[in-house]
Amino acid sequence: MKNTVTTFQEMKNRNEKISMLTAYDYSTAKLEDEAGINAILVGDSLGNVMLGYEDTIPVTVEDMIHHGAAVARGAKNALVVVDMPFMSYQASVYDAVVNAGRIMKETHCGAVKLEGGLEVCPQIEAITNASIPVMAHLGLTPQSINAFGGFKVQGKTEAAAKKLIEEAKAVEKAGAFAVTLECVPAKLAKLVSESIHIPTIGIGAGAGCDGQVLVYVDMLSMFSDFRPKFVRSFAEVGTVMRQAFADYDTAVKDGSFPAAEHTYKIDDSIIEKLY
Ligand code: KIV
Repeated sequence: MKNTVTTFQEMKNRNEKISMLTAYDYSTAKLEDEAGINAILVGDSLGNVMLGYEDTIPVTVEDMIHHGAAVARGAKNALVVVDMPFMSYQASVYDAVVNAGRIMKETHCGAVKLEGGLEVCPQIEAITNASIPVMAHLGLTPQSINAFGGFKVQGKTEAAAKKLIEEAKAVEKAGAFAVTLECVPAKLAKLVSESIHIPTIGIGAGAGCDGQVLVYVDMLSMFSDFRPKFVRSFAEVGTVMRQAFADYDTAVKDGSFPAAEHTYKIDDSIIEKLY
């Protein structure tokens, strides 16, 4: 059955955990969907893990649409959420609605996600009023990496913790259907989750959140540029891939691939006439 924003709320109400993973292409989305993952995030982390940028700043709306549409084609049941990239919503409410509309129309996703708290509440309200579900994103918001001065745990002081709770309540009031909490102390994330009615989806925010999200290449150990403390490796796929690539290289060079079973036949009499 297709997961929707209503499914998210019903799962929180029933105290059932929500599973979410990123995906950036059709085949991965299909595998995650078949595994029963509730929601797939086409994160702007694609800038780092698919496109090789140092951060998410250069990612464009076109990038998100290109990958988002592929994921949506592969996800039969999972709710597909597509990130709004840097500067596609910050400058004005108008930009936010137009770009959210383009992402929805051109990808066939079920919702968009944007980063920020009080400063983007007008955008969340306007996008929601255009019947586009919005997931908010608080705590460590990678699009603000230059303002934060690096990847740091957020909400550690009393003032910052109070602000995070206030912002979670504000994005809920603005109409967000869920909120991602990234790199937030576990006890604070639990308190936030208990303070609002909409589901919280944690990444580096402990088990007290209503659901969890991870970047799939991190949890499969396929991405080695950096590994945050909160990532658990569920399979050493990177090692398996590297070995398979090396085995292929050897097989091509020693002539053992392709073997007879990988080739197509033709009548010898035809070949003889060609000499
Ligand atoms: O872009 C992304 O993958 C994200 C997750 C880290 C939540 O926003």
